[in-house]
Amino acid sequence: MTTPLIGTSWKMNLTPSLAAAYCTALRALVADVEDRTLFVLPPFTAIPAARAALAGSNVAWGAQDVHPLDSGAHTGDVSAPMLADLGCTFVEVGHHERRRDHREDDELIARKVAAVQRWGMTAILCVGETSKTTIAAAEKHVSDQLRRAGEFDIARLVIAYEPAWAIGVGAESAPSDWVAGVHAAVHRRLENLTGGRSVPVIYGGSVDLDGAAPLLATAGVDGLFVGRHALTAEGFARIAHTPPVGGAPEAAVAPRT
Ligand code: PGA
Repeated sequence: MTTPLIGTSWKMNLTPSLAAAYCTALRALVADVEDRTLFVLPPFTAIPAARAALAGSNVAWGAQDVHPLDSGAHTGDVSAPMLADLGCTFVEVGHHERRRDHREDDELIARKVAAVQRWGMTAILCVGETSKTTIAAAEKHVSDQLRRAGEFDIARLVIAYEPAWAIGVGAESAPSDWVAGVHAAVHRRLENLTGGRSVPVIYGGSVDLDGAAPLLATAGVDGLFVGRHALTAEGFARIAHTPPVGGAPEAAVAPRT
């Protein structure tokens, strides 16, 4: 496995002022984390504050969505060059809440991936089934969602497996046999489409401190995508410090002196 990727999307939470405080605290709390790639995805309005607080640190920042075109008459939208200019490394596309609330389909999402990659950033493409039926059905669903993946720049692509039924308040993380099955299917599908090249596949959906270590130890899981349990800097820092299962217990989360 490559260096685990551990990140959070704040969704529609935290003002720019709160983002500045979060990122300043996070920078100190995770300064000792060397074996993970960390990122935060604030709302658009808070990206400048995140950049100001995180520049030169070991935490990357990015965005939760993007318009497929670079400029034009698209009121309220934000384009990839705007995000690149803010130093974004990662841009999430195709989250379940965007598919659900904004009727985004795989065609539009593929154009968004292309826009992100055209501007030198890495697209985090979210896939996942809506309801919980069988692992085989979930595997088929995500394989279908990935049918355009052969067109993408594999070097700038991360897949996030996020079953919709595991996301949000009241939900629970998918069990590890489920996650292992679907991640294996995603890896197989991507290898077929890319002539054997590997792409990181991270898991999201009710990831918390207790679930983080077993998920990181699950075959085919290259990282974690955290929502509500990383809405404080301390919460995210604890998950970022999760030791591997069977690894040495981690020291308390504290800034490096
Ligand atoms: P959650 O969100 O951790 O609050 O379930 C995860 C996600 O939507 O990525």
